[in-house]
Amino acid sequence: MLCRHETDARLRVHITDAEKQRWEVPYNLLPRETPPSLKQTLGRSRKDVYTLKASDQYAGKELVFTYTADPFSFSVKENQTVRFFSIPPPRNQTLTTAINLNADLYGSHPVYMDLRNVEGEAYTHAVLLLNSNGMDVFYRGNSLTYKVIGGVFDLYFFSGPSPLDVVDQYTSFIGRPAAMPYWAFGFHQCRWGYHNLSVVEDVVENYKKAKIPLDVIWNDDDHMDGHKDFTLNPVNYPRPQLLAFLDKIHAQGMKYIVIIDPGIGVNKSYGVYQRAIANDVFIKYEGKPYLAQVWPGAVNFPDFLNPKTVEWWGDEIRHFHELVPVDGLWIDMNEASNFCTGLCTIPEGRICPNGTGPGWECCLDCKNITKTRWDDPPYKINASGIQAPVGYKTIATSAYHYNGVLEYDAHSIYGFSQAIATHKALQGLEGKRPFILSRSTYVGSGHYAAHWTGDNKGTWEDLRYSISTMLNFGIFGVPMVGSDICGFYPAPTEELCNRWIEVGAFYPFSRDHANFYSPRQELYQWESVAESARNALGMRYKLLPYLYTLNYEAHTTGAPIARPLFFTFTNETDLYGLSTQFLLGRGLMVSPVLESNKTEVEAVFPPGSWYDMFDMTKVIVSKESHHVVLDAPLHVINVHLYQNTIIPMQQGGMISKEARATPFTLVVAFPLGATGGEAKGNLFLDEDELPEMKLGNGYSTYVDFYATVKKGKVKIWSDVEEGKFALGKGWKIEKVTVLGLQGSGSAFEIEVDGNIIQDTSAVEINTTEHIHIEELEESGDKMK
Ligand code: NOJ
Repeated sequence: MLCRHETDARLRVHITDAEKQRWEVPYNLLPRETPPSLKQTLGRSRKDVYTLKASDQYAGKELVFTYTADPFSFSVKENQTVRFFSIPPPRNQTLTTAINLNADLYGSHPVYMDLRNVEGEAYTHAVLLLNSNGMDVFYRGNSLTYKVIGGVFDLYFFSGPSPLDVVDQYTSFIGRPAAMPYWAFGFHQCRWGYHNLSVVEDVVENYKKAKIPLDVIWNDDDHMDGHKDFTLNPVNYPRPQLLAFLDKIHAQGMKYIVIIDPGIGVNKSYGVYQRAIANDVFIKYEGKPYLAQVWPGAVNFPDFLNPKTVEWWGDEIRHFHELVPVDGLWIDMNEASNFCTGLCTIPEGRICPNGTGPGWECCLDCKNITKTRWDDPPYKINASGIQAPVGYKTIATSAYHYNGVLEYDAHSIYGFSQAIATHKALQGLEGKRPFILSRSTYVGSGHYAAHWTGDNKGTWEDLRYSISTMLNFGIFGVPMVGSDICGFYPAPTEELCNRWIEVGAFYPFSRDHANFYSPRQELYQWESVAESARNALGMRYKLLPYLYTLNYEAHTTGAPIARPLFFTFTNETDLYGLSTQFLLGRGLMVSPVLESNKTEVEAVFPPGSWYDMFDMTKVIVSKESHHVVLDAPLHVINVHLYQNTIIPMQQGGMISKEARATPFTLVVAFPLGATGGEAKGNLFLDEDELPEMKLGNGYSTYVDFYATVKKGKVKIWSDVEEGKFALGKGWKIEKVTVLGLQGSGSAFEIEVDGNIIQDTSAVEINTTEHIHIEELEESGDKMK
């Protein structure tokens, strides 16, 4: 056992077999210090019972956790011990975990965050079990138990004490979230079933006509020839026409992304397959490429743990990019998803259909593999949420990767290893910042990819669920996240789609996507949805500089873009379990309607002044956290800005490139009626398509904004780092809007960067004449 404070805020406890090497998450995928050689480790395995106890390091008042490994026997069956760890959870905690093997979450993040309030003080810590094996995690209200079927106990404790400290400590260890290009914060339209190029062209045109912003148009596998990666269907997506279309949209600043799946069609006349065989890149079973079935029919799966595969994959991406200059890649089905289970063969003469067969039935001849303990381990985890065998509809767990690594051990890192290989390939292309969207994720995936939450349903329940999932992924270090807007299937109602775009316009990653069998659901398909979209996305596009600055913050500190309210209001214990509202950054709160037939929404307002972003003359002031019933007719989404905040906004537009060129308005929000008060905010700007997002490279600018109000005088000033870049681009702040001052505007003297402002048109002061104030004493009061 190794127990070491790796930093002031991170404790590692690594427990392994003193006698035998065991599987660990590869050190090259997630770089970290290797523990000392086995001989040097302390303790013995076998009969020992370890109990780790930690008392509260901040308050010294209560026990934070006890870990008990009991029974602790590494050799019940070699490398397959079932381990039980139990942590009594603390009081008032909020706990977030998602751990599974091939169940509906598509990935595994064996980490939880614990937030508790001890005598009025909030303390947060997180615990990561860095293990990629199948596991069940039970949370029973008074204990948390891990049942893990392999690997080692590699535990990391991150001491907080604030939620932002925890994500900072966590992502400094697992890898900071990827820098996203600016356009990625624009709106994205996708669907499965854009049968030919003219349908795609129409979609882009219709967005324009409807005056709904759109930055990125996507193709699912419809552009492919026979559903094979890196190909084009010559009839429906002829290359010359596709290139002409891309030239046109690229010239406007729009982008194009296509899907790729890991399953490579087994087809001797398919170049990608031929080169794969020549390079020996596939996962194996009994010496031969493991055979599975996905959309192209029979497929083999590349082994991204093999350096040769990474090279071959990079070459394929480069070839494809020469064929079609895509702006990003969508890596789907990478859990990996397989329509068959077990060991399969293709009978002589049988041709498996490609595409969406009825029920996507397995057309190969397959048999269950039970002969090894990897296929039928002693402890049965709840695979796929249905107690299925571990290898159910994925790669057989006794198949093996490079260096003999078993799929049993590496299953959960498959999508992660594919994201790393894809990132490496894209980074080399045109020297641009990669954009990758991955369905499967693991600890560290956020360093390479964005994530969408997979095949959700067009139901109110899944609309609500999209918020908690998004908030979890922020904590997992994957802040660029969103769900299919309006639901993947079945068809949403018009009302649901209205409400969904109102929420989805504020997902960090905002994309409408639908299933092959669903009717069309682009936002212009219903006039009412188009109106909600213009409204909500209109606001998003004005907020793009704010979202992009949050992206920079995420990239440098791990701070989620979309956050639970407790991230800012750590002491408000009532907010700990709240997932019907969320924050963008520290102080922009979204309070959506999540039920049908509503024209109002009941929302919590933490103490302070909250300004309505759609009508800044309206403010809600509450002394304590209050439930407020807000008007929310169909086209209204409630978004409020918190006091003490300065946010940079622009004028919006139909494409982020256009919106980005407009002048800035600085919105300065003081507490309402403040005779004294302060506010601050920031802005990051750079050449967003260059790979690195950092200061000091000559193409970035960072500004801290500050404001104070005191005795009738408002002072606003900034600290600019690397200002040359922004100046060179000609960006300017055209207007400052000051919120929260009482009395008439002329009663205030405004000083900006040391100069008294004479030109009053440049400053807008929203004073009390326009402000509707509610001093809310009781919950349930209504804001008109
Ligand atoms: C599964 C993905 O989750 C979905 O978004 C996609 O449309 C289909 N695969 C088809 O590629």
